[in-house]
Amino acid sequence: MSVLKVMIIDDEPLMRITVQDALINEGYQVTSAETGKKGLSLFKENPVDILITDLRLPDQDGLHILKEIRTIHPETQVIIITAYGSIDSAVTAMKEGASDYLTKPFSMDELLLVIRRLLRMKQLEEENVLLRERIEERFGLEGLVGKSPQMQKIYDLIETVSQTDATVLIQGESGTGKEMVANAIHFKSLRKNGPFVKVNCSALPETLLESELFGHEKGAFTGAIKQRKGRFEMADGGTLFLDEIGELSPGVQVKLLRVLQERKFERVGGNETLSVNVRLICATQKDLKEEIQRGDFREDLYYRLNVVPIQLPPLRERREDILLLADHFLEKFSRKMGKEITGLSQEAKTLLLKYPFPGNIRELENMLERAIALLKGKVIQAGDLPEEVCENTMPIQTLCEKIQASRPLATAVSLFEKEYIQSVLEKTKGKKGQAAELLGISRKTLWEKIKELEIEI
Ligand SMILES: Nc1ncnc2c1ncn2[C@@H]1O[C@H](COP(=O)(O)OP(=O)(O)OP(=O)(O)O)[C@@H](O)[C@H]1O
Ligand SMILES: [Mg+2]
Repeated sequence: MSVLKVMIIDDEPLMRITVQDALINEGYQVTSAETGKKGLSLFKENPVDILITDLRLPDQDGLHILKEIRTIHPETQVIIITAYGSIDSAVTAMKEGASDYLTKPFSMDELLLVIRRLLRMKQLEEENVLLRERIEERFGLEGLVGKSPQMQKIYDLIETVSQTDATVLIQGESGTGKEMVANAIHFKSLRKNGPFVKVNCSALPETLLESELFGHEKGAFTGAIKQRKGRFEMADGGTLFLDEIGELSPGVQVKLLRVLQERKFERVGGNETLSVNVRLICATQKDLKEEIQRGDFREDLYYRLNVVPIQLPPLRERREDILLLADHFLEKFSRKMGKEITGLSQEAKTLLLKYPFPGNIRELENMLERAIALLKGKVIQAGDLPEEVCENTMPIQTLCEKIQASRPLATAVSLFEKEYIQSVLEKTKGKKGQAAELLGISRKTLWEKIKELEIEI
């Protein structure tokens, strides 16, 4: 542990010197200030682990300092010094978040005892965090949260595939965690100390993408003023992650196929044949089989990429992970924004559990980040969630009126589907054969819809 930093703010010189000497003797690094203003400005420059302040200072109230410290640096523990007989103010200070208090006059032994107790508590807290992390590891992998059976299968696949060099194709809707899985595979693999290089194939036009992937020689095209290494070369000895692979143009598809077959390529405008040792992971939100049928994706390339397929389930198909993920993001953002948030109200939880999440985990993450940023209280209420989540349980008429409002198509469609099927089932008094006929779908499809959309009969 690094040297503990302590600051004392007190207007009495004797008190400052006594405390300073005693603590320096114990091996702490100590600063002191005689006024609140000076103390705070010193603190802002160089925050300390423990701050000891008198409640009554010539220029400021110690409580004010306490509140200020709690907002700018909540980890700092504040010890309040109160005058003999003013127990009320000590109580107020503790309520405002002081860690402990001392009543004047006190001995240095008492002070040291208080500090040691605080340190012990901090240590316990840290141990607690470590333990929690270990539990999270058992839930997930490399920061992946979720313990649904579908995710457990994904973790197993990641474990297995990371021990090989096989090409992996990750497919899944937008926001399901494709990039996170690619990260996990690389950092679990033997290549973890090698480079992990990412390319977003949809971000660049064909010619630029080609030179991005394979590099170019000086003068290969206008603007190629010097030789440049491509991402394949940069990833040598490591992993190359090609995101949005479904967007590759036919020309680049051919080149990629050759690299996969022969492990060889040339820089754009170059003659030298290069070969690299790269593990390839690809991801797409498109259905590549459909792309093949449409003639937009090469079948031979597909089979080369799809050596190990990983299909990430949409969030609505693993609802048991919704609240787990919500808790995870709640903790992440409240820590980041320095807010104290205890959780979600029951109503908010119910709404989240019913919402179809067309944007999957990213949508959940974004809505919680926004809710936490704007939150005044300590609990996220239903009203803090976006409109589409709140309206999800609305009756069909209101829904249709509202449907004119802008919302993702997938949400509108699945909301409508659910409400509509429900109303047909009501008409047929729950008779599924009849309802399926009216809806023009098979009984099997109806069953699947009932399950998927969580329709209550
Ligand atoms: N299992 C998970 N546990 C915790 N956070 C997750 C998990 N899966 C995804 N996330 C988070 O959700 C967000 C979206 O994940 P990611 O970028 O990996 O998705 P994606 O499938 O690549 O999305 P897109 O198709 O839109 O590129 C990220 O912020 C990521 O941190
Ligand atoms: Mg992505």
